[in-house]
Amino acid sequence: MKKKNIVILTGAGISAESGIKTFRDSNGLWEGHDVMEVASPQGWRNNRSLVQDFYNQRRKQLKEVSPNQGHLSLVELEKAFNVCIITQNVDDLHERAGSSRVVHLHGELLKARSTVDPSLVYEWNDDISENDKCEKGSQLRPHIVWFGEAVPMLEQAAMLTSVADIMIIVGTSLQVYPAAGLSAYAPSGIPIFYVDPFPKTNAELNGAQNLTVISEKATTGIPKLVQILMEKMK
Ligand code: APR
Repeated sequence: MKKKNIVILTGAGISAESGIKTFRDSNGLWEGHDVMEVASPQGWRNNRSLVQDFYNQRRKQLKEVSPNQGHLSLVELEKAFNVCIITQNVDDLHERAGSSRVVHLHGELLKARSTVDPSLVYEWNDDISENDKCEKGSQLRPHIVWFGEAVPMLEQAAMLTSVADIMIIVGTSLQVYPAAGLSAYAPSGIPIFYVDPFPKTNAELNGAQNLTVISEKATTGIPKLVQILMEKMK
């Protein structure tokens, strides 16, 4: 029998218990910075070294944290389902947990890209410095989708969601589009599960006919949900 497709949209909340701060749980500040200062093209133009430094710190921090039970439990689903994770997170905790298919909507901390040609993307584990250039000679920047920039992976994410049999949404405040509207691409009536200790409702989710909200943290809510879904497949 063909495995059912599960699409999982994750946000900062799934990595919170690994020690990475969420965006909107600390008065709109991201690790002490106004998000527009460190996550927008204007911020980059105004103070390049502050932005580089900020992501260099995030890259360092990433090496000090590990996947939690939430990330790990999602891997379990691959035994019975065709699983695709669409994450808004720029960390690599899903990959390190062992998930095999992860689409990063907002870029990846462990990659750098050219400032003249967005198709030139490089694996990057350490700091990006002012001397680091792409093969066309331009400065490298973090491979992060900043506010106001295009979301190149959206088309693929929408396509994957459009063939989902089940959708899971975890740890996101559903405030940033287009990610927040992804569930609108899901076939109507499919079961949607939303795991978040402080779930937000928005128009798309209110419209979902088959929505189950699990108001729990990722490390407890995801294992419970995974157990329910795995039991159903027996
Ligand atoms: N487990 C699950 N969810 C949690 C946990 C936890 N332990 N702790 C907090 N949360 C939830 C919060 O209740 C909130 O709904 O995680 C969500 C975090 O929301 P945001 O900080 O807004 O993060 P996110 O939705 O991922 O932000 C989207 O905004 O700044 C941009 O590009 C950035 O990808 C990011 C996007």
